Amino acid sequence: MLSFGKRVVRTAARKFGYDIVRVVEPRPTPHVAIKFTDLSRYRRITEPIPGMISSEAAELLYGICVTQDVEGDVLEIGSWQGKSTSYLARAVRDSGNGHMFAVDHFRGNIGKEGLYSVGDGLENLQAQFEDNMKAIGLQHVITTLPYFSEQAYEHLDNCVLRLLFIDGDHSESGVRKDIQLYCPLVRAGGIVVFDDFDITFPGLVSAVVEWVEHQDPRSVFVRGNMLVCKL
Ligand SMILES: C[S@@+](CC[C@H](N)C(=O)[O-])C[C@H]1O[C@@H](n2cnc3c(N)ncnc32)[C@H](O)[C@@H]1O
Repeated sequence: MLSFGKRVVRTAARKFGYDIVRVVEPRPTPHVAIKFTDLSRYRRITEPIPGMISSEAAELLYGICVTQDVEGDVLEIGSWQGKSTSYLARAVRDSGNGHMFAVDHFRGNIGKEGLYSVGDGLENLQAQFEDNMKAIGLQHVITTLPYFSEQAYEHLDNCVLRLLFIDGDHSESGVRKDIQLYCPLVRAGGIVVFDDFDITFPGLVSAVVEWVEHQDPRSVFVRGNMLVCKL
């Protein structure tokens, strides 16, 4: 609550079209003898990896994944150049819980390939992804499945997932297919995250809402355009 004096000054400033806001400077992290992952530092390390999700969303993925209390593997559909992968795989390594699977046919979204150019084209997308993972030293944590998600599913053997991140084919039928195939692999207490849950993808939203209504997860929240469901 602002003091009376400050409220008067602020109201007067607003009359002239100005506002007074408090600028919160980031404060230095203390040097202490406990081990922790400093996400601000990690953000700088992963900065060169182009991504279709924001650093904030990637950090949310990290936080969810590293603190999960059930065991299992982590699988992502839609890796692109590895921004989300870099946070999920780092959380897998830091938690020592399970293995990371990255599914992507590395062709971009069919019909929208133009949005997915890497240099001159998409030919080098998989190599670029792999180089990016090597550059941050996480290649050993990740099994890349460079197939359409339907085919990638055939390569999984007795896989039990604790976290599934769906960010591949954004069409209604594509999302429905991914849900149908992969959600049953997620164990009770596990988490499913859908990216791009927003009005620009009405088909995706319909497919996800239908699944949520049927599945009735224990908890569901939205942060930005990510929908997070705990089973
Ligand atoms: C929105 S991008 C993923 C962005 C990524 N998560 C990030 O952090 O930058 C979608 C990716 O899904 C892949 N993709 C689209 N449809 C797919 C499908 N049916 N199977 C596998 N990958 C698919 C595309 O090649 C593309 O790289």
